[in-house]
Amino acid sequence: MIEYRTLRIALLGAGSVGSQVAALLLEHGDELAARVGARLELAGIAVRDTTAQRDTDLPSDLFTTDAEELILGSDIVVELIGGLEPARSLISLALTSGADVVTGNKALLATHGPELFDLAEQVGAQLYYEAAVGGAIPIIRPLRDSLAGDRVDRILGIVNGTTNYILDRMDQGGDDFDDALATATALGYAEADPTGDIEGYDAAQKAAILASLAFHTTVPVSAVHREGITGVTAEAVESAKRAGYVVKLLAICERVRDAAGDEQGISARVHPALVPRDHPLAAVHGANNAVFVQAEAAGSLMFYGAGAGGIQTASAVLGDVVSAARRHVAGGPGVAESTSASLPVLDIGRATTRYRATLEVVDRPGVLASIAQVFSDHGVSVETVEQRVGESETDGTASLVIGTHAAAESDLQDCVTSLASSDAVVAVRSVLRIEGE
Ligand code: HSE
Repeated sequence: MIEYRTLRIALLGAGSVGSQVAALLLEHGDELAARVGARLELAGIAVRDTTAQRDTDLPSDLFTTDAEELILGSDIVVELIGGLEPARSLISLALTSGADVVTGNKALLATHGPELFDLAEQVGAQLYYEAAVGGAIPIIRPLRDSLAGDRVDRILGIVNGTTNYILDRMDQGGDDFDDALATATALGYAEADPTGDIEGYDAAQKAAILASLAFHTTVPVSAVHREGITGVTAEAVESAKRAGYVVKLLAICERVRDAAGDEQGISARVHPALVPRDHPLAAVHGANNAVFVQAEAAGSLMFYGAGAGGIQTASAVLGDVVSAARRHVAGGPGVAESTSASLPVLDIGRATTRYRATLEVVDRPGVLASIAQVFSDHGVSVETVEQRVGESETDGTASLVIGTHAAAESDLQDCVTSLASSDAVVAVRSVLRIEGE
């Protein structure tokens, strides 16, 4: 039998992901040792309450409430507590003590990533975070390593399973938003307080992480434009379906160019969008996630799979543990996070988008012309116009759906503001951007 050296793993947190990581480490010890060239010993699991009920049966002598002592005796620290504190302090302690850190904490990385990456670089340690975006889906390592020699142009991501589940039910089953949310809650996809998911905060944190990696630039979550899905109506989903689109909450990270094609910077945004039904992202159903990457040389790539779930996310965490352990075995300094490009992070107003606006308008002569004039006044070119009489909520009005050509987002926003105050418009029923065409 081969005698391996032992690397001590400290686990912080034993929730749905943490308890699965512990179980897999214990169960697959021999296999992991052979892959790494070192035995991975689960040194302990730091929790708040050592007597709490866990998802899996784990030896009780592994549990401790003394996270600091556990960290100081470990080679690799796996942080799965979530939230900003004490996660931030404990990760800092681990890095300072020379341990590599594995985390799935997207909120912490999107908020304090730069300071933690700087600390890791200063002390020559490594911070791994594959589980922070897309659960089980390998997307951090492909962006960080596999595509490091290419130039990423654009990312379109379905990075929140709860909202994808809700929108998928609205699309496939005709549910309205409240019913779809209630089902998502009953099935455990949505949390008791669903705000973080349905208002796009979770997706915005993931967009900040993806954009930072893809464009070698620090992108703080505060620079990510965010809109949730609470305003998406059953009527808008149905109308989109008739026109050949599906509504998805997208995280969009892209290079922004001016009219001459010269690059101006990058932008990151999260909002519901109309995706053509033949786009690969339209086939992402239920609570699954997918990240569609367009790179200069590689072309289009799609990474798809379970975006959450204890054992699925544990797979991503263990992949990072193996990477960290191999580095310990091989030696050598860690690789710093690349922010070498430091591109300007631009406001959404600088992005180029396309709108599909549903207006309830007064049904009388000249209305179409006056609405067309509003678009023209803002330099926005209309591509499609669809009028449906008799479907409006008010007598004497018609429903008008206008699709635009690509235009500056700021011009499109101004155009909608003017439409809302126009005498011809009774109400702006919905405005959704078209992406992926
Ligand atoms: N709440 C997230 C989702 C999972 O619904 O996708 C964790 O990131």
